[in-house]
Amino acid sequence: MSIRLDTRFTERFISGEEIAAIRPEAEAAFQTLAARTGAGADYLGWIDLPENYDKEEFARIKAAAQKIRKNSEILIVIGIGGSYLGARAAIEFVKSPLYNNLKKDTPDIYFAGNNISPTALTEIISICEGRDFSVNVISKSGTTTEPAIAFRVFKQMLIDRYGVEGAKERIFVTTDRAKGTLKKFSDEAGYETFVVPDDVGGRYSVLTAVGLLPIACAGIDIDAMMQGANDARKTYTSPDPSENDAVLYASLRNILLRKGKCCEILVGYEPYMLMLNEWWKQLYGESEGKNNKGILPDSVVFSTDLHSLGQYIQEGQRTIFETVVSVKDPGARFVIPDDPANVDGLNFIAGRELDYVNKTAMLATLIAHNDGGVPNIRIELDDRTAYSFGYLVYFFELACAVSGYILGVNPFDQPGVEAYKKNMFALLGKPGYEESGEKLRARIEKA
Ligand code: PA5
Repeated sequence: MSIRLDTRFTERFISGEEIAAIRPEAEAAFQTLAARTGAGADYLGWIDLPENYDKEEFARIKAAAQKIRKNSEILIVIGIGGSYLGARAAIEFVKSPLYNNLKKDTPDIYFAGNNISPTALTEIISICEGRDFSVNVISKSGTTTEPAIAFRVFKQMLIDRYGVEGAKERIFVTTDRAKGTLKKFSDEAGYETFVVPDDVGGRYSVLTAVGLLPIACAGIDIDAMMQGANDARKTYTSPDPSENDAVLYASLRNILLRKGKCCEILVGYEPYMLMLNEWWKQLYGESEGKNNKGILPDSVVFSTDLHSLGQYIQEGQRTIFETVVSVKDPGARFVIPDDPANVDGLNFIAGRELDYVNKTAMLATLIAHNDGGVPNIRIELDDRTAYSFGYLVYFFELACAVSGYILGVNPFDQPGVEAYKKNMFALLGKPGYEESGEKLRARIEKA
């Protein structure tokens, strides 16, 4: 078993009767998902992906990763939202948030095209100066503005540096199987392409080529990651929340929401969880936040953020609950040194493992936040291996889908993401948007 769900710190807030009361809804949600009859049923490819993934493409991913590792000091991963968060989360979780600074035999990995910042782009360009690099551009639609701008830039840099033929050896494109500008262009240019399956949405795509190519480039065991996800798939087969922790987690979230807890904070106790938090926020925020419904997903890394958001969580509006992800074996051991002078008075913990103090901080915080009126769900992982990461990804994806169905939304679409794009195109003067551009400019001037 790789994950344990600890509900002790929800018991003051959720009764057995409440769990029993939501059970029919939770079971129905799970069964709708399993029967593939609910909203967004065309996007359920992630359910069996850990078993049914394309083995031929998987081998090509490994070969491409090997090639990149051989000929490149840097890999630039271009993508936004679901097209980069999973890979970045995996690399930071399994390797390190300081991955690029570690001594290693794998390339540095920089993520571009996930913002429109000239500063960020310029910095990554300058990092590539004098160093061999490759590019993995990832966009399911192939039309997203942020990655498209970055790809323009890095593609031209590769052509200028290595020539048209040389660039072909260094550009890897992950996009739709057949549709879209990026696919058409890549085929014409002769770039190697990988597939974002039709039935897997961006935020559910970390276990496809979207996540796997950059993850493999970082030297992470993608077989183990798929194995972890597949073991989770085999574990979470019952619709009954008392037998299925993913359904239980989905149920608890919805019970808490109905009691006014409309913000969930994902809590990690390790800096390597920062990007996992960001991946999770997208998964839950984009899946549930629609039709004026949803739980606002927020995140923190403790104990760091106990010194920033800790005050609010302890005593602010009582509309929040926390989900704490803790890792039993954090990976590193460090013993607190003795100081004969004991100037800081900390000799009472000298000789203790730092992780013991970290875990004690977690327990202390769980109790304090509980006493402050904040329910805490706790998810415990064995370790930070690729296997556990894959397991956790599947757990969260499944729970998210079930939770969305309990909530009564389609967890697989994201119509709201279009609103800013339409306005941006109109204001930028994209052909076809002239009329709305005029209206928006008039609104801005009035304001
Ligand atoms: O979850 C999603 O579908 C989105 O976050 C997309 O991943 C994101 O908008 C990027 O889209 P694309 O991969 O088409 O460039």
